Parts: sequence; structure tokens; C-alpha cells
Amino acid sequence: MIVTTKKLFEAAYGKYAIGAYNINNLEQCMGLFQGNVDSKAPFIIQISKGARKYSDKRMLEAMIRAADEIFPEAIFAVHLDHGDEATCIDCIESGFYSSVMIDASHEDFETNIAITKKIVDLAHARGIVVEAELGQLGGVEEHVAVDESNAKLTDPKNAKEFVERSGCDSLAVAIGTSHGAFKFSGTQGLRFDVLGEIQKVLPGFPLVMHGSSSVPQEEVARINAAGGNLKGAKGVDATQFRRAAELGVTKINIDTDGRLVWTRVHREYFLAKPEEFDLRPIGKVFMAEYAKFIAQKNDYLGSAGQLDALRQMLSK
Ligand code: G3H
Ligand code: 13P
Ligand code: ZN
Repeated sequence: MIVTTKKLFEAAYGKYAIGAYNINNLEQCMGLFQGNVDSKAPFIIQISKGARKYSDKRMLEAMIRAADEIFPEAIFAVHLDHGDEATCIDCIESGFYSSVMIDASHEDFETNIAITKKIVDLAHARGIVVEAELGQLGGVEEHVAVDESNAKLTDPKNAKEFVERSGCDSLAVAIGTSHGAFKFSGTQGLRFDVLGEIQKVLPGFPLVMHGSSSVPQEEVARINAAGGNLKGAKGVDATQFRRAAELGVTKINIDTDGRLVWTRVHREYFLAKPEEFDLRPIGKVFMAEYAKFIAQKNDYLGSAGQLDALRQMLSK
């Protein structure tokens, strides 16, 4: 069942965070649904601009609608990740997305508010909710690259004004994370001091943490042992997710870790079976491993086991 992120956040706020997972293909889609149903967790499917272009945006939509039928017990939101204005409008008009992110975080404060408000007005008229971003993460996104030294943490002093004037429903905050597999080049970690300040000025308001892959060292070691080269890859400590959730983070974005599962599975499989050339056996292995990964991640997020309580809340 597709719901808005607003509903998911109402259930989760202060208690746990919802996993927001990016998908691009059928195998990720099936593994994602299986993993969440296995761990009885609500979830958010994230679709980036790049994912919409990879095959065709209609293909992703058709796959997700089919998965919704195959897994009738699943409760999830369909969310555009890092949208620009045109993509947000396309998703709002599609009638399929329950949530969009307008990412104008690279613009100045006033322009970010103006662009966000425009999308909020269009989205709300159709019952769709909007995530916006204030501050800038390090790492590479589709339309903008930011090196870690230029990343700007969210200024708690501006956060309340931004939310009030833009009308956004949730806010992505920059608190030290970055996108991709190479986070925290020094000894930095999550800035709970900044997050705490933001929660003080926005009590009860859902916050979002991008760039939250953990880049498990065991996964990196296995990839490198099977011919990869991801030396120095590092991520967020997943045991800190619960603390972030207590401070108002209700959505935690994870993409890179799923790509690492894909890379490890394929590298190890073909290294062990050089004579193999059938895509289905390896596809099956990946779907099972991805489902296992999602269920484990939901344990860290605290979303595992929350599905029945959420269903009850939604039926009231
Ligand atoms: O933040 C970006 C997400 O990981 C999506 O990545 O734009 O390569 O699909 P993508
Ligand atoms: P990671 O690169 O840490 O997985 O972050 C993904 C993300 O923020 C998607 O919006
Ligand atoms: Zn992101």
C-alpha cells in the first residue's frame, strides 16, 4: 500500500527512523520488498533522476505497482530523491509519487525558499508531501558536486524560518554526512550537537539524514579481495541511527550500501564461477542478499517490527 511519508513520519517521530532506499532495477525492487516484509518494516522507495533515466521512468512505476500486488502486506511511500523543479513537477503530475524532494540547497537562502515554496504549493494541491534541504552535504549528486571542505552544515538559526516560509513537510539537514562510499576523510562523525539545536527550534518536525550508508568494512574487504579497489571507503556508524531518531530524524537515506551488496555479490560470484554466464542464478543470489541487507538495516533503524502498529494507526 502506498502512503505519504507524512503518515510514516507521524508513526515514527522520536521513536525510530524509516529506511529510504534507492532502487534502479527489478532485482533491487524485489529484494527491497522482500526484506521489508520479512522484517515487518514500513519503508520509503527512493527514485532519483538518474534512476528514472536508466531505463524509463514508466518501467520503475510499473515494477513498483507490480511489487505492491506481489507483496500486499507492504506499506511504503514512493519518493523522488534530489529532484530539481522540472522533475518534481513531472512526478507530482504523474499521480504516482506520494512524496517529492526539491533540492535547491545549492541556491542561496531566499532562492531555496522561493523554489521550495513553488513546489510545495503544487504538491499540496494534489495531496503530495515535500522534503526540502537546507545546508549542503559533501559528495557527488547528479546535478552538483561538493567536496567535504565546502559542505555547509545546516545552520539551526535559519531552520525554523526556512520551514515556516517554504511550507515543506520535512527537512533534510547537513550534519556531517556525505553521499557515496568515502565519508569522513578525517575523524569527523555525526554532529549530534547541530542536530540537537535543530530539533530545539523545530520540535516535532520530521528531519531527514542523507548520505547515511555505513559502508561496512567487511563488505569493502570482500569486494577488494574479489578484485575491487575501494581502498579507504568509510561510512556512518549505524549504531548511531537510534540516537538520531530520538533527535527528530525520521527518514534515513541509504543507497551506496545497496550498491556495495550488488558489487560484492557479483564480484565474488563470477570470481568463483568463471564459466558462468547466466544472469538469473546470480540475480536470485543478489535478491536474497539484498533482502537480508534491508532487514538488517531496519534493525538498526528501529523500523523492523513496526508494520502491524502502523497498519492499526492507518486504519483509525
Ligand atoms: O544522493 C544520490 C543517490 O545516491 C542517488 O544516486 O543519482 O546516482 O541515482 P544517483
Ligand atoms: P549514501 O550515498 O550514503 O547511500 O546516501 C544516499 C542518499 O542520501 C540518497 O539521497
Ligand atoms: Zn541524498
